[in-house]
Amino acid sequence: AKVLVNDQLIERTEAVIDIEDRGYQFGDGVYEVIRIYDGMAFTADEHLDRFFHSAEKIKMEMPFDKQQMLQFIEQLIKENNLQDGSIYMQVTRGATARNHLFPGKDIKPVLTAYTKEVARPEEKLENGVKAMVTEDIRWLRCDIKSLNLLPNVLAKQEAKEQDCYEAILHRNGTVTEGSSSNAYIIKDGKIITHPATNLILNGITRQVILQLCQANQIPVAEEEFHLDDLKTADEIFVSSTTSEVMPIVQLDGQSIGDGKPGPLTKKLQSLFLEKIE
Ligand code: PDD
Repeated sequence: AKVLVNDQLIERTEAVIDIEDRGYQFGDGVYEVIRIYDGMAFTADEHLDRFFHSAEKIKMEMPFDKQQMLQFIEQLIKENNLQDGSIYMQVTRGATARNHLFPGKDIKPVLTAYTKEVARPEEKLENGVKAMVTEDIRWLRCDIKSLNLLPNVLAKQEAKEQDCYEAILHRNGTVTEGSSSNAYIIKDGKIITHPATNLILNGITRQVILQLCQANQIPVAEEEFHLDDLKTADEIFVSSTTSEVMPIVQLDGQSIGDGKPGPLTKKLQSLFLEKIE
């Protein structure tokens, strides 16, 4: 497989990253995951905009401009003959003798990217998945798509050990998002999701869903909601680039609704499908 290291498309086995790369040592960098449907990058523009914003928020200058990044995406798809899958891209603050301080201007950020073949999770989308609730122990800049994912990793593993697909996070009882997704409840025909503040990542899928709601007169609100709202919701779903609109049919062992994906979640799934087809 061909991977990207800075502007070089090379064999994966030829790629070399310094052991003092700041991404490796400090998690000092940002990343994106972009979905490829039928050989085309879905919402690549939006992902790249967020990528540049994340970099700006950590005071890191991207080594390439957006146009070049779009070209890299095209090259990766073509070289790897990617039909359905994803592209992972990250930029770190570069490699130099370990020091917490930012390196000097002579040290350039390091871009790496690679593709992966993955099918849509059709069975899970159809039947829904289980989730559990756990505390959100992350920092206060969750709006940055940073490489520091240790709290997310711990939450996802906790979910897995309880036979769950996702961990839904709360801060003092306020539901923020999933460990790698945004979270939504539906109550009396209205969709509610946490506002796009510093406490969540403003998902690109989330933005697509909000637009779909607006265009189709589906009531939606970006408002805080709490653990008791989650437990008593008519429907729950999570969203992400890889999970799309994923119904949650069980929460902490309790069925949500009748334990099957609900009508509004299914409606959103079909609207989303029209977008990606
Ligand atoms: N995760 N919130 C968090 C904490 C996430 O990590 C993600 C995405 C999302 C959804 O964002 P989007 O719709 O733009 O994918 C929300 C990616 C897929 C990952 O880390 O693999």
